[in-house]
Amino acid sequence: MEFDDAQIEDLDAIIALRRRAFEKITPSHYSPAEVENLLNDYDRAQFSKMIRDRRLFCYKKGTKLYGTAGWEGSAIRHVYVDPDQFGVGIGSNLIEHTILDFKKRTGCERMTAGVIIYARGFYEKSGFNVVAKKKAWDGSEFYEMSRPLK
Ligand SMILES: CC(C)(COP(=O)(O)OP(=O)(O)OC[C@H]1O[C@@H](n2cnc3c(N)ncnc32)[C@H](O)[C@@H]1OP(=O)(O)O)[C@@H](O)C(=O)NCCC(=O)NCCS
Repeated sequence: MEFDDAQIEDLDAIIALRRRAFEKITPSHYSPAEVENLLNDYDRAQFSKMIRDRRLFCYKKGTKLYGTAGWEGSAIRHVYVDPDQFGVGIGSNLIEHTILDFKKRTGCERMTAGVIIYARGFYEKSGFNVVAKKKAWDGSEFYEMSRPLK
């Protein structure tokens, strides 16, 4: 699988992909109010900065976007896959691509992740361990997870 640096022209498609991915899985794990908060809790300027810094990656076939992942600080961020393509390895390969870039550019030996309830098993398969279960500002639960990179 090959990945591209996300471009500023991809931003609307990335935000639409985020919404599709969360709409698919969050209603079975969160209350309607929490789902609404999750769907709206993003910062366009923060995405733009990650793109400008070449820290956000995407998987495309032709011009269509099927997945994204990136990093900020020590955290992996914005791991989203098109629901029509769940389970074919896009998410895990995006994680490995992102971690390689993070390690090469920072030299850090640990990567963290804030993980919604649904995705815990996915991150565990990618080598992350649960550090703590936490509550977001609206009371919704998520896992703080971490993976050693040696
Ligand atoms: C979580 C997500 C990124 C997984 O992407 P994906 O491309 O379907 O994952 P992969 O196909 O690479 O799966 C890798 C492995 O994890 C497993 N897996 C995937 N999702 C899982 C889940 N929710 N729970 C447990 N295991 C899961 C797969 O079965 C696969 O296992 P295998 O290696 O034994 O075959 C995707 O479901 C998604 O976009 N979800 C909505 C957004 C989201 O939750 N993002 C994370 C934010 S914290």
